[in-house]
Amino acid sequence: MITIGVIGCGHWGPNHIRIFNHLPSSSVKICADMSEDRLQAVALLYPQVQRTKHYQEILKDPEIDAVCISTPTDTHFQLTKEALEAGKHVLCEKPLALRPEECLQLQVLAEKKKKMLMVGHIFLFNLGIARLKEYIEAGQLGRIHYAHSSRTNLGPFRYDVNALWDLAPHDISIFNYLLGSAPLNVSARGVRCLGTSLEDLAFVSLEYPNQILVNLHVSWLDPKKNRQITIVGDQKMVTWDDLDNEGPIKLYDKHVEKGSRFYENYGEFQLLSREGSITIPHMAFHEPLKLQGQYFLECIFQNRHPEKCDAQKAYDVVRTLQAAQESMQKNGAPVEVKQR
Ligand SMILES: NC(=O)c1ccc[n+]([C@@H]2O[C@H](COP(=O)([O-])OP(=O)(O)OC[C@H]3O[C@@H](n4cnc5c(N)ncnc54)[C@H](O)[C@@H]3O)[C@@H](O)[C@H]2O)c1
Repeated sequence: MITIGVIGCGHWGPNHIRIFNHLPSSSVKICADMSEDRLQAVALLYPQVQRTKHYQEILKDPEIDAVCISTPTDTHFQLTKEALEAGKHVLCEKPLALRPEECLQLQVLAEKKKKMLMVGHIFLFNLGIARLKEYIEAGQLGRIHYAHSSRTNLGPFRYDVNALWDLAPHDISIFNYLLGSAPLNVSARGVRCLGTSLEDLAFVSLEYPNQILVNLHVSWLDPKKNRQITIVGDQKMVTWDDLDNEGPIKLYDKHVEKGSRFYENYGEFQLLSREGSITIPHMAFHEPLKLQGQYFLECIFQNRHPEKCDAQKAYDVVRTLQAAQESMQKNGAPVEVKQR
């Protein structure tokens, strides 16, 4: 049994409490939040979970094996560092830190302390994303030309980081996973429509190896909630819509070939579209947060490195975000993604 302490009980933290209480091999002993109101809200839902305003109580409790951090982004590095130093395994929400070098610092610390350090790249536990990975690895799409994603809604707004840092970690972690690499360079534009100091939306172009271009649209200011991806290969194309319960994945047997067509007395190449059927695979549903929690616990039990979302993967996301932020400040000028 793994005993867990949850730090941060705002909108998202209570979901971690629910999952780690529900999973048979873990339980949440205590949670921390600076806000009395949030602790009262948790008390109504989980009266058996102890509550404190001081996260340090969790860190010094010898019964706590692992800490789950669900606080605002600008606190992630410090809290993760303190939790590792206190000898706890850590699952921290995305992004792991605000600076790439901090991710590497945490990676070294976790290795030194022989503790699991995992970042909550939750979409890597989404079965639709797993299906996209299967298609790519099986070569079903052929050579990938490009991809694009849309992650929009009206809010929720954040006050510690902009929409890029809030939303794009999901998409960058997804594409790094699907393409098995990190972007080489990035060009991004952001807008502050709501008159705060933070960009409410961003358009981000990432160039991956093999000249694969990926475009991300992230926004807090959109009439529609979207969680969509399109990937275009030279054999097939696929779309994913996380909000489509009936068929989130559609595999299009469509591509374009170069053909020759004769007009009177001359021949010329022209592009011919090939249109086959659309496959909508049946998809089971398992809550990604639960699968993520299970993976974290399995890594601890089996003393297995959390390969899928370790500090290195967090670093790949954060160095891309940093380059995108720099590009936004330069009005979209391409910026190389910093290498280690
Ligand atoms: N994986 C996902 O799909 C997903 C969804 C939502 C949020 N998140 C992530 O979860 C984290 C929290 O998001 P949220 O929406 O719950 O934010 P929130 O602002 O609603 O809640 C954060 C809570 O942390 C508390 N807090 C801040 N500093 C603290 C400290 N030092 N000690 C104790 N409590 C502290 C605040 O009082 C607040 O209640 C963010 O990193 C966010 O990116 C992930």
